[in-house]
Amino acid sequence: MTEAILLVGGKGTRLRPLTVHTPKPMVPAAGVPFLTHQLARARAAGIEHIVLATSYLAEVFEPYFGDGSALGLHLEYVTEEEPLGTGGAIRNVASKLHSAPDDPVLIFNGDILTGLDIEALVGTHRTTGADVSLHLTRVEDPRAFGLVPTDADGRVTAFLEKPQTPEEIVTDQINAGAYVFNRSVIDSIPAGRPVSVERETFPGLLASGAHLQGMVDSTYWLDLGTPQAFVRGSADLVLGRAPSPAVPGRCGDRLILDSADVAPDAKVTGGSVIGAGARVEPGARVDGSTVLDGAVIEAGADVRDSLIGAGAHVGARTVLAGAVIGDGARIGADNELRDGVRVWCGAVLPDGAVRFSSDQ
Ligand code: GTP
Repeated sequence: MTEAILLVGGKGTRLRPLTVHTPKPMVPAAGVPFLTHQLARARAAGIEHIVLATSYLAEVFEPYFGDGSALGLHLEYVTEEEPLGTGGAIRNVASKLHSAPDDPVLIFNGDILTGLDIEALVGTHRTTGADVSLHLTRVEDPRAFGLVPTDADGRVTAFLEKPQTPEEIVTDQINAGAYVFNRSVIDSIPAGRPVSVERETFPGLLASGAHLQGMVDSTYWLDLGTPQAFVRGSADLVLGRAPSPAVPGRCGDRLILDSADVAPDAKVTGGSVIGAGARVEPGARVDGSTVLDGAVIEAGADVRDSLIGAGAHVGARTVLAGAVIGDGARIGADNELRDGVRVWCGAVLPDGAVRFSSDQ
């Protein structure tokens, strides 16, 4: 039985302030910590033993997921005292693996939402006899990504840094953050120091003549590293566009957790989630957004494509579009916040303090 490593120790800086108190994999998406979706999908693919490589805010994972038996899994946790990077984290958990040197081990980044056919990736790895196999996805605009070109047989030919000029865009294939490693390759990563699997291990393996296989799977794929992507991913889970066996409830236009209080004439749409104990008051609109536990959206507020942190307040008639409101922040009435604005945890904004448009 294939086992897996999940990398969940990153600081999640791009997702701040939501990752100030909560590590990125524990931020709720579609009503449960995002990691739950990945664990449930791995279990559905037949994986039972998963080692979580933790570092930043490491102490919160085990109290929530325990030994994993609630999900039918056997979970173990290994914490880095100092962050070791993606490759260092993989090497650091090696002692917990049961696999023999030639056995395949799955490795997942902890912030990817995807419909990847996990069994097909392991199958490709076995049939090609690769040392490492990578899930590759195609993106329309590859400029923000490292590129992974392959030959006619799918063998990786290079790892290219983010392209700067049109000529450098030699492929639209990027590293999608899921790999199969032969166990012996994991043991060959240097121990006890930071290593980046993307910048050091993969290019080094290629230079030494190792066989790295790419498998392009163009199913749903989203890196939830930024606030905009995170709300999109959560909404796609609720709408049923992104597959997960762990969405609590039926897929549809909204997910309202049991103890949430939504006024009958409030409009909650576009895959929005209203968290436990949260309140949406009369006349408010919430579209394509995530409202975390205990947050309050006051009467007539209009919240779109935004992430509202736990216990935060959004004042009456305030307009939010593409905003992130940190845990416990209080936004007064009649504000207008747009376009990637981030309000820090606990911050207080008075009534009528910020507008983008004129007040006419
Ligand atoms: P940003 O700071 O916003 O870039 O996010 P991040 O810290 O999560 O980094 P990135 O998205 O590049 O990380 C990819 C995956 O590797 C994520 O699942 C991280 O949790 C994980 N990761 C990154 N660095 C480390 C590390 O030093 N240790 C461990 N255990 N995991 C890591």
